[in-house]
Amino acid sequence: MTGGTGGAADRAVICGIGYRVPDRIVTNAELCARLDTSEDWIVARTGISRRRWVEPGEATSDLAVRAGRAALKSAGGGQIDAVVLATTTPDQRCPATAPEVASRLGLGGVAALDVSAVCTGFLYGLATAAGFIAAGLAERVLMIAAEAFSTLLDPDDRTTLPIFGDGAGAVVLRRGRADEPGAVGPLVLGSDGDRSELITVKAGGARQPFPGPIPDDGSQYFKMRGREVFRQSVERMSAAGTEALSLAGWQLGDVDRVVTHQANARVSAALAERLGLRRDVMAQNIADVGNTAAASIPVLLAQATADGSVEAGHRLLLVAFGGGLTWGATTLTWPHLELHDA
Ligand code: COA
Repeated sequence: MTGGTGGAADRAVICGIGYRVPDRIVTNAELCARLDTSEDWIVARTGISRRRWVEPGEATSDLAVRAGRAALKSAGGGQIDAVVLATTTPDQRCPATAPEVASRLGLGGVAALDVSAVCTGFLYGLATAAGFIAAGLAERVLMIAAEAFSTLLDPDDRTTLPIFGDGAGAVVLRRGRADEPGAVGPLVLGSDGDRSELITVKAGGARQPFPGPIPDDGSQYFKMRGREVFRQSVERMSAAGTEALSLAGWQLGDVDRVVTHQANARVSAALAERLGLRRDVMAQNIADVGNTAAASIPVLLAQATADGSVEAGHRLLLVAFGGGLTWGATTLTWPHLELHDA
């Protein structure tokens, strides 16, 4: 699916950003003490040196509220008409987590819903928020992507445990014009359910419910067929990214930074090579936070804004790939934004 996000005067424009990562830092050395792996393997094969994990009792909503509050401050306050929360790890199966987040932010009463697209969650959430604005349902939307992904991981699985981290990133979107900095460009979104088996948490849903006996086959945990996911990821992200550029009327040479979902430093390098881009165009924070799934792009945008590697006026290509399978891409010119502590 491809499309604009409304007419020229109905664009969703980013006007605030914030993020929050948990306090607890988990180093590669800590993981090596309990898994059959090595610090060298993790750094060489993923580019990850450390990640942040929630403490027991800390949940997705806790991160989402902190990131959301920072984004609201960054936007200078003002009315919010809807809250969209992209997450793979809602606080519970029912109800959605967004209404609780809206209430805790003092926004109770507004439309609030969760979006589930695993690592593509931010781009699907952006499309949902932009759609609310284009349809005249909202003037301003708080869009948060938050994950307590560590709660899905098998503590004995060396193929997933080192890769994922927890975090939340949020943006405020307002109605504006297509030619303004911050205006979300044409969006490319896709899925391939024939390959859903590549990334799964099988137990705990309607097909394989529990409570009941705790599964002894590990099916309550996140599973990923890494090598095949790697291949699909590079292929889908390069195709989606190329299409988004074409819809925006941009050339590759127009792109100052590619802000890609941080799956693996080698995925980013392979994507740069496939697109014919220099490695230094790829924004990165995977070494310090790991793969934070849906939260990856907004956390990276906020951190890169803070450290100056993404600046106002930079032309950005955003690209993501995740379970489903799902993928997405869009373009935008980065606006000037204030940053506030979460
Ligand atoms: N330490 C040591 N060895 C490990 C290991 C670890 N932490 N994890 C896997 N291995 C081993 C495997 O068991 C395998 O051993 P074998 O050859 O004896 O079977 C070997 O390393 C190679 O495994 P493979 O899965 O091919 O490794 P890889 O280089 O592809 O790296 C991932 C694994 C998961 C890091 C990588 O495939 C990846 O990042 N995939 C893409 C993820 C992605 O894009 N996700 C997006 C959506 S979430």
